[in-house]
Amino acid sequence: PEFDLIIRNGTVITASDRFVADIGVRDGRIAQISRGMEGADEVIDATGLLVMPGGIDSHVHFAQPTSDGTVMADDFETGTRSAAAGGNTTVLPFALQEKGKSLRECVKAYHAKAEGNCFIDVSFHMIISDPTPQVLGQELPALVKDGYTSFKVFMTYDDLMLTDRELLEVFDVARREGALVMVHAEGHDAIKHMAARLEREGKTAPYYHGIAHSQIAEREATHRAISHAQLCEIPIMIVHVSGEDPMEQIQWARRRGLNVLAETCPQYIQLTMDDLKGLNMDFEGAKYVCSPPPRDSASQEAIWRGIKDGTFDVFSSDHAPFRYQGRNNTGKDNPNARTSFRWVPNGIPGVETRLPILFSEGVSKGRITAERFVALTATNPARIYGLYPKKGSIAIGADADIVLWDPEMEKTITQGALHHGSDYTPYEGLEVKGWPVRTICRGRTVVRDNKIVGAKGGGEYCTRARSEMV
Ligand code: URP
Ligand code: ZN
Ligand code: ZN
Ligand code: ZN
Repeated sequence: PEFDLIIRNGTVITASDRFVADIGVRDGRIAQISRGMEGADEVIDATGLLVMPGGIDSHVHFAQPTSDGTVMADDFETGTRSAAAGGNTTVLPFALQEKGKSLRECVKAYHAKAEGNCFIDVSFHMIISDPTPQVLGQELPALVKDGYTSFKVFMTYDDLMLTDRELLEVFDVARREGALVMVHAEGHDAIKHMAARLEREGKTAPYYHGIAHSQIAEREATHRAISHAQLCEIPIMIVHVSGEDPMEQIQWARRRGLNVLAETCPQYIQLTMDDLKGLNMDFEGAKYVCSPPPRDSASQEAIWRGIKDGTFDVFSSDHAPFRYQGRNNTGKDNPNARTSFRWVPNGIPGVETRLPILFSEGVSKGRITAERFVALTATNPARIYGLYPKKGSIAIGADADIVLWDPEMEKTITQGALHHGSDYTPYEGLEVKGWPVRTICRGRTVVRDNKIVGAKGGGEYCTRARSEMV
């Protein structure tokens, strides 16, 4: 037969168009888009389904060690399995530079973790935590040239944060090499100050994490990151924006013609500080501790405005999974964390629920179009991180990374039905309309009707081009 696979009569959605068509796949790529196609080993009837580019989750953490010995609940196997079940065909996890280690050896270590273990395609962003002269002068430029074209820097966390001077030095390397910098923008000293004051007052429950990580500190750091990027004449991506204050800084920068990109995540439309209260200001709130923390319902409305009006380019999960009950105190619930919110591991699982939440709350509820959904969750991440046109669209020649989506299917999100390594979901009980019924990565079905049918090791590493934004 002419094709390996024909997906027949679905409604194809791209970032800009919507049309009914058949898609012919050959050798893992989209070979033809037309009507009435015949001749394939396998034919899928997609009548009534949406045919969209597979999700690209450009911000996830798998198997990333933490300074206090808590252990991430997902490695590359369970993380990519969960991602695939949620309709994703590519994820971009971080390769963390541990202090004192060379960037090259850290990146190699993540390749070893990923090799042979992934259900879908992956590509790494680096995290630069130790910008020594050797890293700035040789290692980082060499890695950017090798296709690691984006990296993240932190303005907070004791073990990760860079000083302003270090940020500027890293930004200069990004300008020279044409790399895209992702910034975790929260002001470290303001957070430390607030945390110390809260602890003195005996306010140690997980809820107070949200008070310590004030939106004011996020706003200030967002502005500072933008100013440093302006000095160094580089575009930057502000990741995991939680509310209106940092959004205003981004809009302010754009009015001045600065190239500032922005990302938000499901937690900022679906959770609030009330979730951090747990049942009665108890430790249950630890299940929702992430940075920046979810804010309030007014912030959720502001984030929705930003999703609609283009303030946000990317909607990613920031999947940073911990178990609530880990073995040997490796989970969120550990003796240290019980003494203060400061020791609660930061991060929540969400790689599997990202697309259903945005589709249901966004498309099904009429806040955004399906085209905008595709832009935010696949096409923009592909363009911004150098994967386009191989990934992120339904187009001839592109990888056949496709999700078949039933826009009418109603589901209740429950831990028992998810495929991640955490022992809880922060979205337990959330009712959604719209669900991925088949995930196809380079022409191979990885997940069908919530069952994993693909092979571990079917996913490949993708070397990336420079960002289109640079
Ligand atoms: O709390 C979070 N988001 N943890 C993951 C690391 C990060 O800052 O993205
Ligand atoms: Zn971050
Ligand atoms: Zn500079
Ligand atoms: Zn993150």
